[in-house]
Amino acid sequence: MRTSLVIANWKLNGDAELLKQMAEHFHQSEIQQHVSVVVCPPAVYLKTADVLLNAIGIAIGGQNCSEFEHGAYTGEISAKMLADCGCNYVLIGHSERRSLFAESDAVMAGKVQQAQAAGLTPVLCIGETLEQREAGELEHVIAQQLSSACKEIDFENLVIAYEPVWAIGTGKTASPEQAQEVHRMIRDWVAKQAPETAQKIQILYGGSVKAENAAELFSQADIDGGLIGGASLDTQQFDAICQAAKDK
Ligand code: PGA
Repeated sequence: MRTSLVIANWKLNGDAELLKQMAEHFHQSEIQQHVSVVVCPPAVYLKTADVLLNAIGIAIGGQNCSEFEHGAYTGEISAKMLADCGCNYVLIGHSERRSLFAESDAVMAGKVQQAQAAGLTPVLCIGETLEQREAGELEHVIAQQLSSACKEIDFENLVIAYEPVWAIGTGKTASPEQAQEVHRMIRDWVAKQAPETAQKIQILYGGSVKAENAAELFSQADIDGGLIGGASLDTQQFDAICQAAKDK
């Protein structure tokens, strides 16, 4: 009933050449006919991505957006500006934004609201640190991150990405069972807020997903695809991950 979704998060990597390579590859492979594929390059490449990727059925997204609509906020990019560049998605609350750029839970709600108001689908990223997991705080942290970001929002237009902080860029993936447990927790939380949406909402797993482990992760009942960092910079590998999502 839910379609699979795979999102590439390039972070501070990639260039126009990689976009071109990816467009040529996916033009041939056509995996995007079977799985929803989204690429989030750095913002300065979005216009190029709009021309190369949207044209072949791969959607594009921003890696972040401002909690403000417009004004004197040097360096910020609004959700509306992302939409103007051809974006349909925007990542919000990635753990690198939270930990390296001090983005607090408090600003997430504003960002999600701005994204939805601009017609984008926010991809809300949440996840616990290893210390929190070991201290038995997993469920509390997940519920806290969800409730602070999901205020006065439309659950029908939201994607949630579970990314355990200890698995991002570390080569350590959550086991399929560990990931499934949290995905179920998230879906149960959504069911309490918006019962009619819980079975429809796409919940992605992120954190060291590779071609070799993608199929097993995606086979879990509540895992609807992935948010892919490092492995999305390798076009062949990213394609193989999309293929695993198709075979779910
Ligand atoms: P990774 O990153 O796949 O390199 O672990 C995932 C992410 O940060 O979204």
